[in-house]
Amino acid sequence: MQEIYNARAASAQSASYCHAGRFRLITGQQEMERMVVLKYLGHACVELSHAGKHIIIDPFLTGNPTAACTWDSVKADLILVTHGHSDHLGDAVQISKRNNCPIFTTYELSVQLQKQGANVIGGNHGGSRDFGFAWVKITWAAHSSSIGSNQLFGGNPCGFVIRMGDNYMYHAGDTAVFSDMGLIGESYPLDIAMLPVGGFYTMGVEDLSVALRLLKPRVLIPIHYNTFPAIQTDIRALNEAVEKSSESKCIILGPGETFEN
Ligand code: NI
Ligand code: MN
Repeated sequence: MQEIYNARAASAQSASYCHAGRFRLITGQQEMERMVVLKYLGHACVELSHAGKHIIIDPFLTGNPTAACTWDSVKADLILVTHGHSDHLGDAVQISKRNNCPIFTTYELSVQLQKQGANVIGGNHGGSRDFGFAWVKITWAAHSSSIGSNQLFGGNPCGFVIRMGDNYMYHAGDTAVFSDMGLIGESYPLDIAMLPVGGFYTMGVEDLSVALRLLKPRVLIPIHYNTFPAIQTDIRALNEAVEKSSESKCIILGPGETFEN
């Protein structure tokens, strides 16, 4: 697998790569068409870019001690929000207004955000939507959801499967490990899984081996750790857990760092 990554990085002219157990030959042009740039903005916030389009997920920037940018510098064509907790909903409404772009989330949360003036699309678990530049499916998450200090009802939390540029990606949101991760892994040949690893509010390093066995992603990008004292995580233990227990490659990104796939 390492050779495949090197080959892809070394040559934009032509490369072969393994996808769901099959080999395909792709040209430089096709390589560009499938390329996604993933930028980690801190905590659970990730920006996905492909062909000039940008998706931002869980844009908690204001008040995030690890944020890589400010909310008003974000360019977005689509915002995905996994649940109403402030460390995920974050600046979504402001970014939606400034970029005139929709927030795709679960129905109950979308109703609350619409009241705040956001452009929203409210779906629900198992449902998907094709945005042209990306296809997004709402998946289950084992967590809770409420909005603000008044604890407004936020519906159920979610994760997302995203197909963009021929990459299948999974952002789990906040969740415990759950056995239906196996359905996601069975249904989609995941190139990248963004999983919370900080523990306390979500699954932690000790649950990674189970999650990776169920999801079978080529690449794990850990999120939701080291932002606050409660979710301090030993990176060495994280790497060891991945190495020992799965075929997935772990890519650790600091806030502001990118991964191209
Ligand atoms: Ni949460
Ligand atoms: Mn959280």
